[in-house]
Amino acid sequence: MSGNGIKNPGLVWITGASSGIGRATAKLLAGEGWTVAVTARSQEPLEVLASECTSFKGRIRVLAGDVTDAARMAEIVEVLEGECGPVDLAILNAGIYLPMEVTDIDLHKFRTSLDVNLMGVANGLAALLPKMIARKGGRIALVSSVTGYGGLPTSLAYGATKAALINMAETLKIELDRHHVAVSVVNPGFVETPATDENPFPMPFIVPSETAAKRIVRGLKKGKFEITFPRRFTYLLKLINLLPRRWYVAVVKRATGWDKLPDAAS
Ligand SMILES: NC(=O)c1ccc[n+]([C@@H]2O[C@H](COP(=O)([O-])OP(=O)(O)OC[C@H]3O[C@@H](n4cnc5c(N)ncnc54)[C@H](OP(=O)(O)O)[C@@H]3O)[C@@H](O)[C@H]2O)c1
Repeated sequence: MSGNGIKNPGLVWITGASSGIGRATAKLLAGEGWTVAVTARSQEPLEVLASECTSFKGRIRVLAGDVTDAARMAEIVEVLEGECGPVDLAILNAGIYLPMEVTDIDLHKFRTSLDVNLMGVANGLAALLPKMIARKGGRIALVSSVTGYGGLPTSLAYGATKAALINMAETLKIELDRHHVAVSVVNPGFVETPATDENPFPMPFIVPSETAAKRIVRGLKKGKFEITFPRRFTYLLKLINLLPRRWYVAVVKRATGWDKLPDAAS
């Protein structure tokens, strides 16, 4: 499903822009002439990013903050719009992956995952939506994951937050179309970033963060609702998600080697 895509360089706000996908997307858009407001908890890497982009057509505006802090998110949007005018595009990308297995259930990890990945996006939406709805314009992209398509091992908390974001994006799209505020959901496969550096399992079709940024920006320009890549991996996941759930579970166990693990009762 497509709509009107982003066009001329304008003002974009990117959360989670100090590393990985967010950082690469910030650089790409600044290179195209966008004014890019960058948010993450740590100020220093954001300043480094800004210094790397001083000769670019666009510019970087550093506004550090924690996405779990609703008041700070509202303040960032106020400051930004006061200085630079309306936000044309927001990429709510900040997220954390805290692997968890059933034998290692950890409520702190659960709560942190929900706070950052889900409430972090809700806080961004609460800051942006009233303004975008009032002016009948703008686009919001939620960065979810193919993990949100269906259950995967070690994703007990992460997968649940990403499934919730896909659901949330669909609701936003249904309700926001009549307000002329555009919505996208970004569902990447594996991307080389600090978040995946430590993964002990094979990551098929993994792409560099610069490639991820190009795919995201291309999808936003086309006005796509769902932006997913690399398609040879993510379309395969979509396909197995069409299976009856019992078969889906069997295929995932087999593909991930989870069916080879010893029976805990033996
Ligand atoms: N890498 C992948 O394979 C992959 C695949 C699918 C989806 N994704 C999604 O893509 C997004 C970016 O992931 P990435 O791989 O680029 O991860 P990353 O390199 O670890 O970057 C995460 C970013 O989020 C920021 N962040 C974390 N907690 C925050 C908080 N409470 N408040 C504000 N900023 C916060 C981090 O900066 P600070 O620590 O300084 O706050 C950092 O800038 C995430 O939503 C992730 O779930 C990634």
